[in-house]
Amino acid sequence: MASLRDVAPTSLLPLEAAEELKALAQEIAEHDRRYYQQDAPAVSDAEYDALRRRNEAIEALFPHLARPDSPSKRIGAAPATGFAKVRHARPMLSLANAFSPEDVADFIDRIRRFLGLADDEPVVLVAEPKIDGLSVSLRYEGGRLVQGATRGDGEEGENVTANLQTLADIPRQLPAGVPDILEVRGEVYIARADFAEMNRRQEAEGGKVFANPRNAAAGSLRQLDPAVTARRPLRFFAYAWGEVSAPLGRTIWELRGKLRAWGFTVSEPARLCPSLDDTLAFHVDLESRRAEVPYDMDGVVYKVDRLDWLERLGQVSRSPRWAIAHKFPAEKAETVVRAIEVQVGRTGVLTPVAELEPITVGGVVVARATLHNEDYIAERDIRVGDHVIVQRAGDVIPQVLAVVPGKRPAEAPPYAFPRACPICRSAAVREDGMAARRCTGGLVCPAQAVERLKHFVSRDAFDIEGLGDKHIEAFWQDGLLRSPADLFRLHRHGDAIRGREGWGDKSADNLLGAIEKRRVIALPRFLFALGIPQIGQASAKLLARHYGSLALLRQAMAEAQEPDSEARKALQAIDGIGPSMAADLLAFFAEPHNGTLLDDLAGLLSVEDYVAPAAADSPVAGKTVVFTGTLATLTRDEAKARAEALGAKVAGSLSKRTDYLVAGPGAGSKLKKAVELGVTVLTEEEWLALAAGPLEA
Ligand code: IVH
Repeated sequence: MASLRDVAPTSLLPLEAAEELKALAQEIAEHDRRYYQQDAPAVSDAEYDALRRRNEAIEALFPHLARPDSPSKRIGAAPATGFAKVRHARPMLSLANAFSPEDVADFIDRIRRFLGLADDEPVVLVAEPKIDGLSVSLRYEGGRLVQGATRGDGEEGENVTANLQTLADIPRQLPAGVPDILEVRGEVYIARADFAEMNRRQEAEGGKVFANPRNAAAGSLRQLDPAVTARRPLRFFAYAWGEVSAPLGRTIWELRGKLRAWGFTVSEPARLCPSLDDTLAFHVDLESRRAEVPYDMDGVVYKVDRLDWLERLGQVSRSPRWAIAHKFPAEKAETVVRAIEVQVGRTGVLTPVAELEPITVGGVVVARATLHNEDYIAERDIRVGDHVIVQRAGDVIPQVLAVVPGKRPAEAPPYAFPRACPICRSAAVREDGMAARRCTGGLVCPAQAVERLKHFVSRDAFDIEGLGDKHIEAFWQDGLLRSPADLFRLHRHGDAIRGREGWGDKSADNLLGAIEKRRVIALPRFLFALGIPQIGQASAKLLARHYGSLALLRQAMAEAQEPDSEARKALQAIDGIGPSMAADLLAFFAEPHNGTLLDDLAGLLSVEDYVAPAAADSPVAGKTVVFTGTLATLTRDEAKARAEALGAKVAGSLSKRTDYLVAGPGAGSKLKKAVELGVTVLTEEEWLALAAGPLEA
């Protein structure tokens, strides 16, 4: 009988593809084990590479079948769980992106407004390459390297100290005079020439061949055996810092000099840019020299040079306000649309996706690309069979940009967007002014239910390790997991899980253990996990900060259903919760099914009350404050950011629940209303004194 292995990937049926991916995962894992742990490969390099390429080709054709244990996700032999976890003393942030000169101009304007700078005061920026590698944090105590960690999710990474110690440009001992505690952050990467050489060597030795320098760097750093890492050409650039016990100087430019003096390499070429034009010129220049720079860059990072400003600017959500990544244009390629599939998301939104003839764009195989929505397809008249231009930018989902004129097959009809949900057949409707068509099936639509479950367990929500998308789909099919609450009843089905294909005692126990760990959960995560339309991580946190506990939030949402209630006004007054978000929240809490779900969950797990970080001892923590009039020393944005950092809630309008109105000169109606409501009115100085109080103690 002919084996599946002889069938070309493009001829596989979905079931066969799933079977083949499973077989490949097992075989490749076995070859990895023999090669890395027993030093006894059973196949030639060419055979091994062919297996990996076949795995990748099938995954490109059937991305939804890619397995959690796929070899393509496991770069290098080390499993992701092989390292101890490390909590970062200061979170490792990510950067917001700018794609155009206008975005950069906006970035500088925002800084000006936030800091309240005079028009003639220059905002000097440091511009340096954005290196495409992986970020790590190095902790020095008394000048000695004591810990090196990967970024992980920004809060918690992996301890890879032994591996980082093998890098020539990471000093183990710093000269005398460095701060006692010093965390240096930067990027581990592989230069292009080293990458080519390394892949040649890997190939000759029968090792893995990596797709690009970034993957190679990640795979090489996350090796369980540091001796393997030591043989890889990893380099390190220092560009930022974490916890430090003494000030680092006045400017980033000065700090770059210090980092060099301490033995680090800083990213080059870099430039001090006193104006927008200088930054843009640097970007144009660097892009034109992209090929000359010996490592992959995906753009330029601009950072505010003055460290005192940088301190004041702080961060919003997970990105600093003082830095931005100005990306280089995305890479493009031409290919053919084979089919248009419509996916259903957790809120019922129908998203069209183009299935493409697989094509390599900037080093990555692309077989699917988003078409965004109905209008996007209609405006571009994209049809099945068309030649199209696809674009890929960094880790963004690839998209179809446009149809190539003159290449359309004669018989291709215009694409008709479905009027019914492709999964549950409920009507799919478009509300006025909305780009998206939504399935009206709500709780009866299996696609929505499954997507909600995936969201519920995802990394920023309940973060359940070992429960991949495929598992959720399978558990849903079998009725083991229909509602998020079922997750916390899965332990009753331990045997059923152990007996399933692909599961054993260990994996089942690991999963149930991971679920047990989440029986206590922080309020912001819990709210985010509910998947309320428009409530992302930032707004979940905002709600947690304002209401403090799940019980209080539910009570307030019940009261706020009444349009004229105080609770409704308080909700609408939260700075950062717009009218449409408020409407979605109210709708969620008005839906009886959701109430049942919340009651059900409340019986199974405990949601911790929100404690504002670092603010426990601030007298303004937990207080609601409204700013009005002109402030003398702070801009409105900065005042708001500082108040929130101290645990206060900032509202846009007054209600009985307001604790303080901070009124600058020019305060009008709000001041009057505060007096009527009996709200404490503070001057700016009084507020600053109150807010600064215990910090000086
Ligand atoms: S500064 C965000 N400078 O880009 C905290 N980051 O997409 C300050 N990156 O996580 C980072 N080159 O890993 C900075 N010259 C550079 C960089 C750089 C690459 C990485 C960094 C960050 C990611 C954000």
